[in-house]
Amino acid sequence: MSTHKEVKRVTTHTLLEMKQHGEKISMLTAYDYSMATIVDQAGMDVILVGDSASNVMAGHETTLPITLDQMIYHASSVIRAVKRSLVVVDLPFGTYQGDSKEALRSAIRIMKESEAHSVKLEGGREVLESVNRILSAGIPVMGHLGLTPQSIYKFGTYTVRAKEEEEAKRLMEDAKLLEEAGCFAIVVEKVPARLAEKVAKSVNIPVIGIGAGAGVDGQVLVMHDMLGINKEFSPRFLRRYHNLYDEIKGSFERYIEDVKNVDFPNESEQY
Ligand code: KIV
Repeated sequence: MSTHKEVKRVTTHTLLEMKQHGEKISMLTAYDYSMATIVDQAGMDVILVGDSASNVMAGHETTLPITLDQMIYHASSVIRAVKRSLVVVDLPFGTYQGDSKEALRSAIRIMKESEAHSVKLEGGREVLESVNRILSAGIPVMGHLGLTPQSIYKFGTYTVRAKEEEEAKRLMEDAKLLEEAGCFAIVVEKVPARLAEKVAKSVNIPVIGIGAGAGVDGQVLVMHDMLGINKEFSPRFLRRYHNLYDEIKGSFERYIEDVKNVDFPNESEQY
C-alpha cells in the first residue's frame, strides 16, 4: 500500500469557493526557498512573492528599485519549495504601467522563468489595459488597491488611503472594474475597515486585506514584519507573532562568545 499522500493544491478556484463558503483566506509573503518551505507546510493558502523584497531582502527604502530579474529569482526559489499554496508574484514597478504589451511580456517572463501560478499588479482603471492583456494570455491576475506602495512618491506618505468620499468611491469603482476584467482576487491595503468590508461585499471575488480590518475575505502580512525581524516597522495594523530580531541576535551573540572562549566546537562536535 502506498503511503504517498496527495497534496491538494490551492488554486484561484479554491479561493473563490472559500469566499463563497465564508472561509477566510490566509496569505503571507515569502522570498526564498527555506522560508517558503515552512510557510507552505504550515498550510498557508497563498504565498505572495511581494516586491516588498525590495525592502526586507535588499534593504531599499521603497519597492521601486527591485527589477523583474530579481523578482523572478525570488519567485523561482519560492516555487521550488511549494507543494500546496497558490503562489502570486508581484510585477515590479516599471514593468507594466503605460504599455500593456510590455506588461504581458513581463507577466509571461514571470510565469515561464519562475513557474509561478499568477501575478499581482497595483492600480485600478489606469492599469486596466495591462490587466486585460495579461488575462487574455491565460495568466491569473490579482489586483491591488488602496495604499499602493509603488506610487509612494505620488502619495507622499504611507498613511491610510481613501478616507475621503471621492477616493473611497473611486476605489469601489476600481474593484468592480478589476472584477469585471476577470481578476481572481484583490488586495486592499491600508484603508478604513468599513470601506474594505463594503468593497468585499460588493464584488464576488475575494478581497484580501492588509491594514483593512476583519470584514474582508482574507488577510496578508509581510513575513519579516509578523515575525518581528523588522524592529522599526510597527504600524497599528501589524500583529507580531514573534520577536525574531532579538532571538536571532541573541543566537549570534552566543555563537561569537562560544567561538571566542573556545567553547565551540567541543569534543562531540569534532572528528
Ligand atoms: O509586496 C508586498 O509585500 C505586498 C503586500 C504588502 C500586500 O504587496
